[in-house]
Amino acid sequence: MAAAEHPAPPQQKTTSHQTKLAELTARHAIAEEGGGLERRAREIKSGKLTARERIDLLLDEGTFEENDKFVTHRATDFGMADQRVPGDGFITGHGRIHGRVVFVFAQDFTVFGGSLSESNAAKIVKIMDMAMRVGAPVIGLNDSGGARIQEGVVSLAGYTDIFLRNTLASGVIPQISAILGPCAGGAVYSPAITDFTLMTEKTSYMFVTGPDVIKTVTHEDVTKAELGGAVTHNEISGVAHFMAHDDREILATVRELLSFIPSNNLDDPPRKPTTDDPARADATLDTIIPEESNQPYDMVDVITKIVDKDETGAGYLFQVHEHYARNLVVGFARMNGRPVGIVANQPAFLAGVLDINASVKGARFVRFCDAFNIPLITFEDVPGFMPGIQQEHGGIIRHGAKLLYAFAEATVPKLTVITRKAYGGAYCVMSSKHLRTDVNLAWPTAEIAVMGPEGAVNIVYKRELDAVVRRAQAMWPQGKPFTEEEKLAILAEARSEKVEEFRERFANPYVAAERGYIDAVIRPSETRRRLNTALDMLSTKREKNPPKKHGNIPL
Ligand code: HXC
Repeated sequence: MAAAEHPAPPQQKTTSHQTKLAELTARHAIAEEGGGLERRAREIKSGKLTARERIDLLLDEGTFEENDKFVTHRATDFGMADQRVPGDGFITGHGRIHGRVVFVFAQDFTVFGGSLSESNAAKIVKIMDMAMRVGAPVIGLNDSGGARIQEGVVSLAGYTDIFLRNTLASGVIPQISAILGPCAGGAVYSPAITDFTLMTEKTSYMFVTGPDVIKTVTHEDVTKAELGGAVTHNEISGVAHFMAHDDREILATVRELLSFIPSNNLDDPPRKPTTDDPARADATLDTIIPEESNQPYDMVDVITKIVDKDETGAGYLFQVHEHYARNLVVGFARMNGRPVGIVANQPAFLAGVLDINASVKGARFVRFCDAFNIPLITFEDVPGFMPGIQQEHGGIIRHGAKLLYAFAEATVPKLTVITRKAYGGAYCVMSSKHLRTDVNLAWPTAEIAVMGPEGAVNIVYKRELDAVVRRAQAMWPQGKPFTEEEKLAILAEARSEKVEEFRERFANPYVAAERGYIDAVIRPSETRRRLNTALDMLSTKREKNPPKKHGNIPL
């Protein structure tokens, strides 16, 4: 708190009130100094903002109210009694984002490396408990060397108190972790339990054991960035959902993320007024699917033509996990101002196939949306689950089942648009009618079948195709055996007839529509209107799962 906020009283003899106020001001100043100018300069040089600057940028201006600013640690070992900084390196409190209450903590690396003590763990626990009482999100700005080494098990206990609260708050209030510096050891498990993790590109890293331990145990050489930097966790491990160049960008991303989600599981997500006509037709959608069924196209182009346009006039999709498992797109958008969760196969990447990573990515997003009353819209163009030994041995059965489970369990309004392929198990999984999806639409280009025509013909007509080859061989001039090339040509001709026959019979939306598995086959250009009308109709949806302690999702 700046001294200017305490105007000097009229000239008179110093009273005991003035002395007390002066002491308060001095105490504030000491607390705000953190670990001192030298350490702060080091942080600034490395491209980081201070913990207080981060909070100020995150919250609506002037809304931060700090708690426990004078809390200190209680350790005495290792000369700690002489090293007390008011606040103990954690800044905690509440403020507002877009006018809504949020709770926040920020670790100040200049005080014992932002390490977690018994005292500052209690500060976090206090705001988490309050956040649960009032139903408001918790945002952690992490920048810490982990457990305070001088405090030993007491610090571990503090971490575990936080993990417990992260778990109990999961699905009740949104929890967001920004990683803006180190996050190592068991400390990583708090962000891992929270809903979204964001990382700065050059200054953050997360790992359970660092490069030195790895070198000793497994003799592998790896840098901190390769092991647990933002790129690694956004592209390879999927531990993080967002990355950005620096603190400022990350904090802006947190603000944007919150604009799509409610404050708690009993609230509706915040609606944002739009001038985009809810019935707007887009004729370019009618021809967006390539003529050839195996040609890729970008599903993001489809989505952005349908969802609300932003201020720039472009359809806006806020992707989550953008760099991970790119064969599935997940993210938030708005439809007539209403936040929706989008789950979409991406034919432009691995043909939109579902593999282990895509299944886990989708399942986690679906569960988040369901927990926080955000309707789900699924755009489907999927050739099936990814074949391969690596996928089978990696547990595609178990992981694919997560996506199935998540869609089945979800009770929020669910809408599906099949744009092209809906093959096999992937048809069932991708929010099909059979999983209680409320509105299932298909474009005329939809192909709904157990598998693609090529694969189906190879299996169903195997004997018939073999017979064609045998007959051709018998009639071959002078009874000489035909070459492999000649045999393949005969086979290809016979197969293409069958493929065409199969395509006509099954690779369309009408068989499913005849059964009522598809509610309507629509012109692609009218998709936005159909979805908005459906969302209006579903705004009073009430659906509950059977009472139980909790389900047993295939983890
Ligand atoms: C106390 C710590 C600390 C810690 C750093 N510091 N980590 N103090 N406990 N865990 C202090 C340093 O002593 C130093 O103090 C200041 O913070 C800055 O640290 P540096 O090492 O100078 O900074 P840097 O070179 O940037 O290295 C950062 C670092 C490194 C990579 C994070 O400090 C480090 O390796 N720290 C230990 C990390 C660790 O192993 N933590 C325990 C993980 S296990 P001065 O006074 O010199 O400024 C864990 C278990 C949690 O966390 C389990 C939960 C169940």
